[in-house]
Amino acid sequence: MRSLLPKVAVIIPAAGSGERFGADVPKGLVQLVGRTLIEHAVSNMSPVATQIIVAAPSAYVNQIRTFFGDSVEVIAGGDTRTKSVKLALARVDEDIEYVLVHDAARSLASTELANRIIRELIKGEKAVIPVLHVSDTIKRVDKDGYVTKTYNRSKLRAVQTPQGFRATELLSAYRSAKQDGFLGTDTASCMEKYFPDVHTIAVPGEIQNVKITYPQDLVIAEHILGVRRYRD
Ligand code: CTP
Ligand code: MG
Repeated sequence: MRSLLPKVAVIIPAAGSGERFGADVPKGLVQLVGRTLIEHAVSNMSPVATQIIVAAPSAYVNQIRTFFGDSVEVIAGGDTRTKSVKLALARVDEDIEYVLVHDAARSLASTELANRIIRELIKGEKAVIPVLHVSDTIKRVDKDGYVTKTYNRSKLRAVQTPQGFRATELLSAYRSAKQDGFLGTDTASCMEKYFPDVHTIAVPGEIQNVKITYPQDLVIAEHILGVRRYRD
C-alpha cells in the first residue's frame, strides 16, 4: 500500500564560509544556544523529511557527519549556493515527490512552516515560497548613492526558506541551470527562469525565521529562543 505521507527530501545548504559573519569557523558551525546552526536547521526540518541532505564545506564534512549519524547525508558543497544545491539534488532519492530547499543560516524556521509549504505542494502547487510583507520602504540607489526609484511596498515581499518544489520540475530546472551557469540568490528564481509556466505561490513566512548573516543576527536569534533578556 502506498504510504499517505509524502516523500519529502530536505536540502540544507551549509557550505558557505560565512564571510559577513566573520567567525573563525564556517557560519553553519557557529553555536546558538549550545548547538550549531546546522543542527538547529536539521532538527526543525527532520519531522517532515524522508531524506535530509546537508551540503557542507569540504574540510568539515567528516566533522558534521559526526553530529547526525546515518539519518542525514552530509556531502561537500560547491563554491556558490546554487552549486551546493545542485550537488545535493544529485543525491535526492528517486521516489522523492517534493524537495524543500532550506538554508543552515535560517536555523529557526519551524517545523510548522515546513508543513505549511508541504500542504500547498500536496494541494498541487509546484513551487511554494514563504514570504513576509516588507515594512521598510525599498528604493533603488545608483553607484553614487542617489535614489533612482522608489518601489510600491505593498506589492513587495521578503522571501525566506524553506522553499518547496515538486521534485520533477526542480531537478529539471537545475539541469538547465548547470548548462547556463545560472546563479540566483534563491531556488525559486531558478524555477522562475526555466519554468516560466510554473507559478510560484507565496505563503506566509515567519518573523522568527531570521537569516543569520551578521553577528548581530545571532543575538536576535538568542532573543527569539528566549535566552537573552532585552535589557542585557
Ligand atoms: N551556501 C552554500 N554553499 C555556498 C555558499 C552558501 O551551501 N557556496 C549556503 C550557506 O552555508 C547558507 C546559505 O547558503 O546556509 C545562505 O548563504 P549565506 O547566508 O550567504 O551564507 P554564506 O555564503 O556562508 O555567508 P557570506 O555570504 O557572508 O559568506
Ligand atoms: Mg553567501
